[in-house]
Amino acid sequence: MRIIFLGPPGSGKGTQAKMIIKDHHVKQLSTGDLLREHRKNDTALGHKAQEYMDAGNLVPDDIILGMVAEELKKPELAAGYILDGFPRTCPQAEGLDKLLREDHKELDHVLVLNVPDEELIRRLTARRSCSQCGHIYNLVFNPPKKDGVCDIDGAELIHRSDDTEETVVNRLAVYKKQTLPLIDHYDQQGLIRYIDGTGNVQDIYKRILDVLR
Ligand code: AP5
Repeated sequence: MRIIFLGPPGSGKGTQAKMIIKDHHVKQLSTGDLLREHRKNDTALGHKAQEYMDAGNLVPDDIILGMVAEELKKPELAAGYILDGFPRTCPQAEGLDKLLREDHKELDHVLVLNVPDEELIRRLTARRSCSQCGHIYNLVFNPPKKDGVCDIDGAELIHRSDDTEETVVNRLAVYKKQTLPLIDHYDQQGLIRYIDGTGNVQDIYKRILDVLR
């Protein structure tokens, strides 16, 4: 299974992808997580990406495509993957089409998670993630049992530097301008499936599984 999660920041791509990979034998490839890992490890790529990410702008396509091409060569992704946060621009989608063609592979679905803007801002400004295992919490909708500490491994919870209201508003504008046009790109390939991304996390998961079945 090769699927793309398309949806605005905060629509639940990471939350739902982590639920699918836990229950099914498929890997998640999140370009946002990869970039944050580069930043944490102080790599040259991480340095290049930092200023774009902090402002809520997209990292240049050549950096992203080079990084994804390397990841897709990994044997653990041979059986399938969920792309979370990639592609995000038309050149990235065209680059992915080319990589798939060269590998004689095809996408199965492109899932578009729809959530109203006000809800996205509410979700993102209250998001916290585990600094070790990456588990995603929300201070309003899904708080940890103990303040600031991950329920799973006891590590510190972090507030992403791009989750301030001002940066979130810019990320939403960037999504509409640069990523929404991808719906047309994949609609022409008959791959688009819309998912109502509002309501309970489990109900949304069920909607996704219904589509995947
Ligand atoms: P990235 O990390 O990809 O961020 P994003 O797309 O903006 O998406 P998010 O991770 O913010 O949201 P999500 O949809 O995964 O929501 P989540 O499940 O966490 O990208 C960050 C930056 O990296 C970009 O701005 C860019 O600079 C760069 N970048 C990354 N990829 C790139 C690319 N391909 N090209 C160029 N640049 C790139 O949920 C959010 C919150 O809501 C959580 O607190 C969660 O608990 C809560 N929540 C989830 N579902 C529900 C629900 N049903 N009800 C209530 N709360 C919920």
